[in-house]
Amino acid sequence: MKTRITELFGIEHPIICGGMLWVTDAKLCAAISEAGGLGCITADQYTSGDALREAIREVKALTDKPFGVNITLMKSFRITEETFMDFFRVCAEEKVANIEVSGLFATDFIPMLHAAGVKITHKVGAVRHAMKIERLGYDAVIVAGVEEGGHPLSDNVATSVLLPKVAESVKIPILATGGMVDGKSMAAALCLGADGIMMATRFLASEECWVHDNIKNWIVQLNETDTDLFCHTTLQARGVKNSVLKKVNELEKNGAEPSEIVRAVSGKKLLQALREGDTEGAAFLFGQSIGRIHEIKSCKAIIDETMAVAEETLRAKAALF
Ligand SMILES: Cc1cc2nc3c(=O)[nH]c(=O)nc-3n(C[C@H](O)[C@H](O)[C@H](O)COP(=O)(O)O)c2cc1C
Repeated sequence: MKTRITELFGIEHPIICGGMLWVTDAKLCAAISEAGGLGCITADQYTSGDALREAIREVKALTDKPFGVNITLMKSFRITEETFMDFFRVCAEEKVANIEVSGLFATDFIPMLHAAGVKITHKVGAVRHAMKIERLGYDAVIVAGVEEGGHPLSDNVATSVLLPKVAESVKIPILATGGMVDGKSMAAALCLGADGIMMATRFLASEECWVHDNIKNWIVQLNETDTDLFCHTTLQARGVKNSVLKKVNELEKNGAEPSEIVRAVSGKKLLQALREGDTEGAAFLFGQSIGRIHEIKSCKAIIDETMAVAEETLRAKAALF
């Protein structure tokens, strides 16, 4: 399948991995790229440009295929503005294929990245933000519906409505995310105007993902009704309905300070819980897509099956006419 996304990144299949704090390491990233998609590492789990460079070189030692870096641009206790600029500089120097930006809309780094041949994309949850991204000179837009894991925009619009509206509003290539797990969702996204898909939660339940087996087996059992939106007073997130999510809801109901909420959902706790397989130890920002993930597979099997089923689905529908 050739689309504007395979052309943009020089990849075989229009499937890219979304940034996942702590989860997307060099091994997972390389496995996705080796399978013909675009793997990714998440810059915000490093505290300096040099540490990110080391991770990028680790990926390069495992694959010579293109891959990307997610940079989640937000006010952070761990990462200074200077370090964020270092992340962009290192990505330009290392000539990664793509930077997936989420959070703030910034532009300072775009000329430097384009001069280095690095593509730059931004994840958005609204038509107005997609139009802004196009105006600012980004190469592609990632359309994230409210189903997505992580931090869906509080406009709360589903991928099925947001995607065709964005496709009618911008000319740059489009990736769909939020609820994308297989060839059926990919076929639907292509029909709604996407040039490719981004999956995140699906790659968590892969053989190459380092997280504890308890977490992967939990994902396979969870249902689409097992996540909820929370953190309404800080930065809205979607997470699994466990005791941490309940505690955050209670804190918010009692008017807790934002700093208390941020402490309750701390990234450090997540890292520990992912390592130990403790499903009650942190806020797990999984997407509603967990309801459609039934097996732990290799990244190659996930990508090959997605492509085969997308093609089969589109051919079967075309044969109706
Ligand atoms: C465990 C986890 C951690 C995530 N961390 C980040 C992150 O650090 N930065 C970011 O931009 N998006 C993050 N996301 C969101 C994904 O990149 C992606 O937008 C979203 O999960 C897509 O929906 P899906 O999970 O249904 O595939 C995270 C998602 C998950 C599941």
